[in-house]
Amino acid sequence: MKDYSKYFAPSLKDARKRLSKETQNLQYQIDEKLIGIGNDKTYIIKTYGCQGNLADSEKIAGIMDVLGFTEVDTEEEADVIILNTCAIRDNAEKRVFGELGRLKGLKVFDPNKLFVVCGCMPQEEGTVNKIKDQYNQVDIVFGTHNIHKLPEYLNEAYLYKERILEVFSYEGDIVENIPQKRAHEYSAWVNIMYGCDEFCTYCIVPYTRGKERSRRPQDIIDEIKELAREGYKEVTLLGQNVNAYGKDFTDINYTFANLLSDLQKTDIERIRFTTSHPRDLDDETIKVMATGKNIMPHLHLPVQSGSNRILKAMNRKYTKESYLEKIQKLRSLIPDISITTDIIVGFPGETEEDFLETLRLVEEANFEGAFTFIFSPREGTPASKFSDETPLAEKKDRLLRLNKIVNEGYARGNKRFVSDVVKVLVTSVSNKNDKVLSGYTPHFKLVNFEGSKDLIGKIVDVKVEKAYTWHLKGVIV
Ligand code: 5AD
Ligand code: SF4
Repeated sequence: MKDYSKYFAPSLKDARKRLSKETQNLQYQIDEKLIGIGNDKTYIIKTYGCQGNLADSEKIAGIMDVLGFTEVDTEEEADVIILNTCAIRDNAEKRVFGELGRLKGLKVFDPNKLFVVCGCMPQEEGTVNKIKDQYNQVDIVFGTHNIHKLPEYLNEAYLYKERILEVFSYEGDIVENIPQKRAHEYSAWVNIMYGCDEFCTYCIVPYTRGKERSRRPQDIIDEIKELAREGYKEVTLLGQNVNAYGKDFTDINYTFANLLSDLQKTDIERIRFTTSHPRDLDDETIKVMATGKNIMPHLHLPVQSGSNRILKAMNRKYTKESYLEKIQKLRSLIPDISITTDIIVGFPGETEEDFLETLRLVEEANFEGAFTFIFSPREGTPASKFSDETPLAEKKDRLLRLNKIVNEGYARGNKRFVSDVVKVLVTSVSNKNDKVLSGYTPHFKLVNFEGSKDLIGKIVDVKVEKAYTWHLKGVIV
């Protein structure tokens, strides 16, 4: 067995370094000998965090299926329990540690169960040491850069019954063609790039996901054409900062705007993307968005704060004024666009006046939704060392005040569609009443209406009758 002891330790210092080495695109190849190692075994994956993790879990499930494992619905039934973790805020990590504690009991009844922890948490030094020292029940730990090595880890864990910890601090290459078991049959996540080079001072992502690496345009276009052929209606392009797509290419000039315009020519009916960075969102991208077609009129554009002083401390590289200018440009070219955002309150040094500026910006920008968070210090990031004197109670109070205004925006955004006929991509049936279906409009508004289950995966016309804060209610026309 390989000696894993010298590989396990991730280093946040090393993870900060950006190597000039060019990214290689490799083709995934499974070791034929390992196909079948899971033939008599089952697995479950629990995914925490963002869409990036959801997409990674689809790849992990794809690999597990090729190895012969069967997916099951409960941890009790599963021979392999995989936790794909998130490190973005402390509460995400607490949930995973709580879950590991709860699951420990299952090993008493079945010591052969394998516990796997992967995703962003293992990329943090402190977390890996904690798992190593305090969570003996965990058998395999790997990070975000070595998903493709899962077959090898599982094989060794079964053969040698020893713990395997392998986390790379340096991002690897791009591995194409990892089998992917998609969670839905009509809507798909498509990674267009990996990593982030922004280094916002509060954020752990540039450390856990490595440097920005863009997939080759043709690989993305081919994947989306294939999805359209298979009957998929919608794709969501994924990247930590999709507007930086292509900046790492050394042999071609090809930007996010170029990608969007090439994807407009495919048969996929709906294109969404996340996440955008206000500094890098350029005029070309806005112009392509304005031509509409299959690009949906919704943009998630995280602003984080409305105070220039705080934006500077966050290293966001834009001002409240330049952010509002972009919003204005978007609205002048795409008048009905729906814009949503992310906001952090209680960043170190945020005063009541800074916070009031955020509230004013939320009003001015007319957001139709926002994910709002209290700042959570992440070990190894600059902001975790900034002095922070605001008591937690005050931060909670700010969050409540912010959410009140944000919720008014949600309601306003829904209200503007009353009496309209909207196109809804039907995604699910209510678990309370199987005659009630749900789906999303182009503007990403949730609509509930009565209809038959076989409409799931189809795009149907619905007349909106009533708007609530979180959803619309309508009838099929
Ligand atoms: N504390 C609180 N919120 C954070 N986010 C990222 N890092 C932190 C942190 N340390 C938020 C940002 C980002 C979203 C994905 O999570 O708002 O846009
Ligand atoms: Fe984190 Fe900033 Fe990169 Fe987003 S852009 S992942 S907030 S560092």
